[in-house]
Amino acid sequence: MYRLQRTLATAANTLSTTAAATAAARTRCVPAASAVAAPRTIAPRAAHFASAASSPASLQNDISAKNLHITPTSSPKQMSPLKDLVFGREFSDHMLTVAWDAQSGWAAPEIQPYGPLHLDPSCTVFHYGMECFEGMKAYKDAKGNVRLFRPDMNMTRLARSCSRLALPQFNKQELVECIKKFVKTEQRWIPQEKGYSLYLRPTVIGTQPTLGVGPSSKALLFVIASPVGPYFKTGFTAVSLLAQSSYVRAWPGGTGDAKVGGNYAPTIMPQVNANARGFQQVLWLYGANDELTEVGTMNCFVFWTNEKGQKELVTPPLDGTILPGVTRDSILQLTRGWGEFQVSERKIYMKEVLAASEQGRLHEMFGAGTACIVSPIKQVHYKGKDIVVPLDPKDPKGQAGPLTKRLNETILGIQYGEIPHEWSVVVD
Ligand SMILES: Cc1ncc(COP(=O)(O)O)c(C=O)c1O
Repeated sequence: MYRLQRTLATAANTLSTTAAATAAARTRCVPAASAVAAPRTIAPRAAHFASAASSPASLQNDISAKNLHITPTSSPKQMSPLKDLVFGREFSDHMLTVAWDAQSGWAAPEIQPYGPLHLDPSCTVFHYGMECFEGMKAYKDAKGNVRLFRPDMNMTRLARSCSRLALPQFNKQELVECIKKFVKTEQRWIPQEKGYSLYLRPTVIGTQPTLGVGPSSKALLFVIASPVGPYFKTGFTAVSLLAQSSYVRAWPGGTGDAKVGGNYAPTIMPQVNANARGFQQVLWLYGANDELTEVGTMNCFVFWTNEKGQKELVTPPLDGTILPGVTRDSILQLTRGWGEFQVSERKIYMKEVLAASEQGRLHEMFGAGTACIVSPIKQVHYKGKDIVVPLDPKDPKGQAGPLTKRLNETILGIQYGEIPHEWSVVVD
């Protein structure tokens, strides 16, 4: 408990802010062997936030898994029965934390009992949305091995999100190693049943306790974990969308391609309004020609016969307004590998979807993301019209088309190690 309070107090700058005091605090909290480890240099940071550091990069420590210290909880919790698991409601016994400050860089990573953060109310995270995060999962395969799915991609995206917020960079591979140790510590929280997993939420916040708008000289990286069940517990349930052009999720030059908390809060009111009108999700449009961008918090895919008469799977391009989804990338790579139809990243306009629907060329639409892998779409409400999206042509009660189902099965198979693939990383 002392360790928890010490780390968080350091992160919140409630201890002395001098470099000497910070270094002394860090020396107290790491094992003797690692306390004398040579400082590591951090990667050069983007010019636009170089001013965040007031010490030369060569004097700063980077994240290092070998310095990780574990303080086990003295009161392990009981996990709810699988049938009662609700996404993001309960959390495992521990959390991973790594504090950073501009003087000395990253402190020693710690795995410690899950608990509240002790933060100064003036911290930058509370005032200017200095927060970014990731969503990834740990899985248990039939043999009991713990697996991660493409963790390198989550780390790359987290580093990009940090860069966009002038938060510090870090050694991505070392953070993956820390997350592997964290996941091993929490492995009793990963249900063995297929479809279940441990959702991981790596997060970085600005913790400098001052109100000036500027780069944060202090930050805290933490990872918390929540056991989750299958997104669709009783098979797929296709969703209906309200195509939204009055409110915009992201725009060129904004932060749509970063996973920053500030992208999400403004989407909640339009989402609540869509729900009140009987739609499950918002289809976010952009621009005078109503380009499709994302579905709720998922990337968007359309499978159709295009105007040239070719079968094509199409998704909006990574033009800065779209989050570069791990699932999106996996779907593009898999389907390109299959070579059965054209696969395109290009702008999609609502008038094209309308025309395809009217001409019987629209085959399937789905959202894609870590939470659900794929989420079939059955209807899009757009400017007073209902576009009905076909689901299973062989089963009038079916809730997903053949391509949507095949992608789900393939990615699920890789995640649980049933289909050997380099994307599934065994944690040993
Ligand atoms: C806005 C948005 N788009 C897309 C995605 C899908 O990304 P991923 O496949 O990496 O989960 C997410 C989820 O993280 C998201 O929040």
